[in-house]
Amino acid sequence: MIVAGNRWRARCLLALACGLAALGGARADDAAAPRSGYQFSSPMVREMQDDAFANPGMLWVAKGRALWDTPARAGGKSCAACHGGAETGLAGVGARYPRMSPRLGKPINLEQRINLCRTEHMQAPAYAYESDELLALTTLVRHQSRGQPVSVEVDGAAAPFLASGKAFFEARRGAMNLACSQCHDRIVGKSLRDDVVSQGQSNGFPAYRLRWQTLGSMHLRFQACNFAVGAEPLPLGDDDYVNLELYVAWRGRGLPIETPAVRR
Ligand code: HEC
Ligand code: HEC
Repeated sequence: MIVAGNRWRARCLLALACGLAALGGARADDAAAPRSGYQFSSPMVREMQDDAFANPGMLWVAKGRALWDTPARAGGKSCAACHGGAETGLAGVGARYPRMSPRLGKPINLEQRINLCRTEHMQAPAYAYESDELLALTTLVRHQSRGQPVSVEVDGAAAPFLASGKAFFEARRGAMNLACSQCHDRIVGKSLRDDVVSQGQSNGFPAYRLRWQTLGSMHLRFQACNFAVGAEPLPLGDDDYVNLELYVAWRGRGLPIETPAVRR
């Protein structure tokens, strides 16, 4: 994970605390319609995202295409052999994850679904979370749904997992005792340090972050937000993060998939 030095952390926490204190009881409209992080980005960052040649995230799409067509071992099948062409083979699928795995009895995200294909259908080892390969394939599959509305299944067996994700979103944590909702519901549109606080939507992920100088998963962003309030981040791929991802997707239902988005 990305870890900043303690000095940076102390300064950052102080600035966040002051920013929040100054904002006092400010409260954005809770019933506001979902808005993408794109709408809170600067024109320069938006232009970079919109231009396929300037968007650095497209490098992962290209890496994903190469992996898509390559069998994991000699004589084995590639993703393409079972799922069709790299451009549209799984179009629409990326907009519907996380999704219940009937066999595992819990929701899994796209990274985990891809790794199940590796282990169950390709007799190949799972990729490490946040590895270049897993990011590339996840980005490619989500990119195949670009422009399609986020739409996750939250009824029936998924309901308790959604509830758990919502509880996580609303629970205060860390040295600053702040919940996700306190920033991403209550001070949307306000400035915190050099950022404009967005609704914390997931429709652009995996996303290229200029500050990371690389592309990162949804869970890496969750870790960064935990870290920003002095809370212990969970491991990438943790069940609680998958539930959170499900809730965040549901909260942003209808937003178009932007993967790979560019963010500051
Ligand atoms: C040998 C055939 C096979 C190969 C190779 C394969 N898959 Fe799959 N994949 C499946 C099957 C079958 C399913 C349906 C779920 C199941 O039965 O496991 C599936 C499901 C999926 C899904 C979820 C689809 C949905 O509608 O929810 C994704 C995403 C996916 N595969 C991605 C990949 C990627 C990426 C690769 C290459 C790394 C890959 N698969 C390789 C057979 C394969
Ligand atoms: C102290 C305020 C604060 C808290 C608390 C916080 N975040 Fe964030 N978050 C930010 C800032 C600042 C950014 C970067 C600018 C933006 O998109 O809001 C951000 C970005 C994000 C993004 C990326 C949005 C995009 O479009 O790129 C997501 C998703 C997110 N946060 C989710 C969460 C979740 C989930 C939690 C709780 C675990 C959380 N945040 C807690 C301040 C916060």
